[in-house]
Amino acid sequence: MHTLLLQDPTEENIEKAAAIIKNGGLVVMPTETVYGLGADALNKTAVTNVYKAKGRPMDNPLIVHLAKAEDAEKYAYTSPLFYKLAEKFMPGPLTVIMPKKDIVPLEVTCGLDTVALRVPSNEIAHKLIEKSGCPIAAPSANLSGKPSPTTFDHVVTDMYGRVDAILDGGPCTVGLESTVIILKGDGAEILRPGKITYEDLREIIPYITVNQAVKNQCVDAKPASPGMKYRHYAPKSPVVLVYGEDEKVIEFFRNKQQCENCGILCFDEDKPRILPNNALTFGKHDDEDTQAHELFQKLRCFDVMSVDKIYARVPSENGVGLAVYNRLIRAAGFEIINV
Ligand code: TXA
Ligand code: MG
Repeated sequence: MHTLLLQDPTEENIEKAAAIIKNGGLVVMPTETVYGLGADALNKTAVTNVYKAKGRPMDNPLIVHLAKAEDAEKYAYTSPLFYKLAEKFMPGPLTVIMPKKDIVPLEVTCGLDTVALRVPSNEIAHKLIEKSGCPIAAPSANLSGKPSPTTFDHVVTDMYGRVDAILDGGPCTVGLESTVIILKGDGAEILRPGKITYEDLREIIPYITVNQAVKNQCVDAKPASPGMKYRHYAPKSPVVLVYGEDEKVIEFFRNKQQCENCGILCFDEDKPRILPNNALTFGKHDDEDTQAHELFQKLRCFDVMSVDKIYARVPSENGVGLAVYNRLIRAAGFEIINV
């Protein structure tokens, strides 16, 4: 398939991309979280092609992207709580799951009776949805199992030849996928943590819980969010998380660097204390926003370094740190060493 590279997000290029969506094609679009692989959410064939282009299992549903929160009415049975959340967090990196209306094809939801809705704040995504005149179903634009793409280059690496067009919007500002919640009466449950944190949500939702699969391996064959059961975010080499006191972790890294062809993913403060070979940083110890922004980018860097194994620092679970922890522990297939 020929892939049109639209590297300048001019009105004309966004219109070209919108025409492709309207005609049932696939367009990769930038969002504030990660790049998304978009198709007309109401076109069953186009939606099915999204799964094929990514190599995504057909039981892992897609998020539907809208231009404005009020459009949610057309696709889901909303509630006053949804609008309270929308007022505070939309447009932005929050996805809300609600009971679906019949207009949403079962291809989008993989047969579930709920639909995930999100209103991205990225200006290019917003214009693309408006100009397309339809809701856009879009998973992250990586090949299934790989780290989500946060730059145009990442998308070209994974999707060139598999989609009709790629719209360049520069590096994504957040760097991790949206927070996913499911509404349950007056309360809600976090299925995937993100930039909008548990603490942020608790200000609006008195009864908010975190699904246990956020921090633990999913053993349930039918989890609340199907995406929880798959290996995710993984670079080519296996990742192992290293947990322990600073001194001990640093010593462990130095020892491994001397006897293995390994990569090290560490905090900024660690870098001067370990060997320079194949060591990458992903932000300061207590700077979870930078860690979120850097994580996928750095995991993809290890792919071109050809290391045999990657040892990584364990991020804190506070605030946005919970989202970083959730992605990294899946990238590691839940392998943790305690030193
Ligand atoms: O930031 C984001 O959310 C990005 C950008 C492109 O918007 N999208 C994204 O999509 O991360 P994806 O497909 O990679 O992740 C969507 C997650 C999956 O874990 C999926 O299982 C879950 O949302 N999901 C979607 N619809 C659902 C539903 N009806 N019920 C439960 N989980 C659902
Ligand atoms: Mg994804």
